[in-house]
Amino acid sequence: MKKVAVLTSGGDAPGMNAALRAVVRTSIYHGMEVMGVRRGYSGLLNCDFVPLDISSVADIIQRGGTILHTARCDEFFVPEGRALAFTHLREAGVEGLIVIGGDGTFRGALELEKIGMNVIGIPGTIDNDIPCTERTIGFDTAVNTVVDAINKIRDTATSHERAFVIEVMGRRSGFIALAAGLAGGAESIIIPEKPFDIHEIVATLKRGQERGKQHNIIIVAEGVSGAYEISKKILDISRLDTRVIVLGHIQRGGSPSAGDRILASKMGSAAVQLLLKGFRKRMVGIVGDEIKDFDLEWALSQSKEINMEDYILSGILAM
Ligand code: F6P
Repeated sequence: MKKVAVLTSGGDAPGMNAALRAVVRTSIYHGMEVMGVRRGYSGLLNCDFVPLDISSVADIIQRGGTILHTARCDEFFVPEGRALAFTHLREAGVEGLIVIGGDGTFRGALELEKIGMNVIGIPGTIDNDIPCTERTIGFDTAVNTVVDAINKIRDTATSHERAFVIEVMGRRSGFIALAAGLAGGAESIIIPEKPFDIHEIVATLKRGQERGKQHNIIIVAEGVSGAYEISKKILDISRLDTRVIVLGHIQRGGSPSAGDRILASKMGSAAVQLLLKGFRKRMVGIVGDEIKDFDLEWALSQSKEINMEDYILSGILAM
């Protein structure tokens, strides 16, 4: 293989740049040319291509976001769009495409593979909702961002003896909420994977208050009905002074954690190795601290479960 292309697509995630750096430098190390595709799949349709050399990825390992930019592209999801994307790749002499993104990005890659492109997926999303990998690039940084916010919110919550409902991202999953809630010592964690009873939550908050707790932190994953609604219910039942914070896109920014940089570096390099070995429809993942690879189509048919032991533990520790 002489030339590979790489793109980032879907929601950006801290560590995408570190993955890109690893893809570019590993490819060059093995004597291949690398082409960057800007703005995700729409870049394939518009030939928004840029040659990448060793220096183009200098000084980016520590930068959040993605220097290639990213986009969500509807035109690509019709057969004519994909055929055009494939033609543009072939005309540019590309033999393998590495995509960095979430499940929408992987589905796009799978469609390109069906019409003849060798594709490898690197899981990059703060949501951590990709099967076959214990962690996705960006998740660790996002969780740290949320924990930092919880620490700050807890200060003011304690001063005013208030309850705070903090809504975090995660799309339809509760991975960010659970990890950040556990690390931040939240009194309650509400995730889409687990039905909740508002009366039980209020009872926990009240018990804490009775034994002198001066704050209450409730983490809600965005995939649940909504922080404002939950806050209103808490207020209606308990009369606890309650505030809501939706953390939003702050969770997607910032310099990647060391963990995300290392993960991204290993995954980026592994993706190139797979192409070199002749694999054409794989995703890389981390399982038990080892980088593994899986059939992309099979991986997308799997589901990823939340760790219920962690969920139970968070409840025990919140008392
Ligand atoms: O997939 C990453 C993510 O940040 C989700 O957590 C969130 O639901 C979504 O993207 C937000 O997307 P957008 O930036 O397009 O509003």
